[in-house]
Amino acid sequence: MSDVREGPNYWDYLKLDRLLDLQGGLEGDDARLAPDELHFIVVHQVFELWFKLILSELRLARDHLAAPRVPEERIPYVVHHLRRVNEIMRHCVGQFAIMETLTPQDFLAFRDKLTPASGFQSYQMREIEILLGLQDAQRAAEMGINPFGALQRQAKQSPRAQLGLDRIEAARAALPLRSALHNWLYRTPIQGSTPEDPDDVEAVDRFVSSYLKAMQAHHTAGHETRQAVIPDLDLESAKQRLSGVIAQAWDFLHAADVDAESRPRVKRIRAALVFIESYRALPLLAWPRLLIDAVVELEEQFVLWRTRHARMVERVIGRRIGTGGSSGVDYLDATAKYRVFRELWTVRTILLPKRAVPPLENAQRYGFAGA
Ligand code: HEM
Repeated sequence: MSDVREGPNYWDYLKLDRLLDLQGGLEGDDARLAPDELHFIVVHQVFELWFKLILSELRLARDHLAAPRVPEERIPYVVHHLRRVNEIMRHCVGQFAIMETLTPQDFLAFRDKLTPASGFQSYQMREIEILLGLQDAQRAAEMGINPFGALQRQAKQSPRAQLGLDRIEAARAALPLRSALHNWLYRTPIQGSTPEDPDDVEAVDRFVSSYLKAMQAHHTAGHETRQAVIPDLDLESAKQRLSGVIAQAWDFLHAADVDAESRPRVKRIRAALVFIESYRALPLLAWPRLLIDAVVELEEQFVLWRTRHARMVERVIGRRIGTGGSSGVDYLDATAKYRVFRELWTVRTILLPKRAVPPLENAQRYGFAGA
């Protein structure tokens, strides 16, 4: 008997036999697939595998952020998981080029047998959206269609569809990344003040009003420069634009768009975003700024994914209705419009150059020991 222990092998570890036996489509047999159908199935399965990993990475990022206190050294881990998702998404966007090698005629050869199967039923995509923080009300308002309808209708006949719905329900019961991010942002020290400090509300108010004054001064100076170099500048409309920009910033920073009860909290979160972006060079704020950047990139990648999917669909099936019953490309383009992390995008419109931001107070609180 040999004393050499038989170690694990590649095919057992990866369950390769089972994995490679899963591409037989409705017929359950690779040999009976239409000529381009293996390509269609493999590309979809690969996407779903990436979705599985994305869900796991997003949950890890969310769990780090959801702690009641997030130690500074934990932030790089959050960024690490988000960056991995961003790379996967970048790769997924590129993968549509492989899908596009399916010509319209090739697809028509087997498309009919798929009805009513559709990406609508990708419960993993729904879980990702919910985990990010997309709300149903937002969907319905912007898309005019119930994307859960396909799963709900089929759940009556198919236990498999019910499993998908159960996963979606479980995702709804968990804390979304958006909420974890906001809870964490809420605790950001602003000009050295934290929510536990007795005069924190006043400190945040002072910061917000100094920021708005700095904005006014910066834009007025820019306005005067433009006036000097553009002789036929329409002064009246330029002035109106300027006051519009300041009014929008005021509304945003005072959370005028939310109900009175949530206003103080939302106001602090938005002030924190402006603060982190404005003083990003401070040691204590450098990683938080990178985290915010990773979230913005994450949403950017999702929008690109949706846009790229829609263009690929337009190329393969034109303006036909989808197998899931939506209007097709028009519906898909509508899905590229919503934003989960709206505040992170809005803040970009009101940022100021470093030289124009209000002076920093309590610098020692942010890691400048000698300041
Ligand atoms: C020839 C290839 C493809 C075509 C023609 C196509 C077409 C469509 C259409 C028309 C819809 C809208 C729903 C409907 O009415 O059916 C849809 C939704 C969707 N598709 Fe595709 N698709 C293709 C490939 C893919 C691939 C490779 C993926 C990757 C997983 C994918 C994922 C999705 C998802 C997640 C949705 C739901 C979008 C939402 O409701 O937000 N599709 N697809």
